[in-house]
Amino acid sequence: MSVDASRLRDAVARLVELDVAPIVQAGDPVLRAGTVCYDGQLDDAELARLIDLMTRTMRAAPGVGLAAPQIGLPLAIAVVEDPGPEDDETAQVRERIAYPHRVLVNPRYTPVGDEKVAFYEGCLSVQGWAGVVARARTVHLEGLDERGNALDEEVTGWPARIVQHETDHLLGVLYLDKVETRSLATGTAAHRWASESHPLAAARALGFELP
Ligand code: NI
Repeated sequence: MSVDASRLRDAVARLVELDVAPIVQAGDPVLRAGTVCYDGQLDDAELARLIDLMTRTMRAAPGVGLAAPQIGLPLAIAVVEDPGPEDDETAQVRERIAYPHRVLVNPRYTPVGDEKVAFYEGCLSVQGWAGVVARARTVHLEGLDERGNALDEEVTGWPARIVQHETDHLLGVLYLDKVETRSLATGTAAHRWASESHPLAAARALGFELP
């Protein structure tokens, strides 16, 4: 085992003792460093405990995705889960459907077609802020699940946004790198704009273009 793998195992062993891990905030280098592929650095029990911790942390936040760098680990693993929106309009406009709990190991995505959709999104590591990001409406997701089974599927709508956002984290990319900067909002404005199903009114009021 390399030194890095043993350091990683020590960090995981410390973290999994916690009920919920502290979420690293933007400005911490671990969010920018990128990750190493998961290739068995942890044994099955350690991996299961790490995934449980990430899932507990995501649900407690609450959020719809969490990537390992967000709890300080430079490892290419993310968890996602979306119970779905509270209102039908958001479900329809954002194509936001319930997305069951998934573990993404070494994920990568490629856009399918050239259709882009722009909506407000946020990040647990950019607390209190929201901004509009144009993303591919549909992506081809590849990688592995937590049992080592291949992921090879098309994902569309809001789940595609979640997959892109979390996979980006594993590459050291934050939504801030892709955001329409004039859309950025915090405090009550973030709540206001993020709660509207479509960013059309925000685009007019704040002066930015939608795709
Ligand atoms: Ni995020």
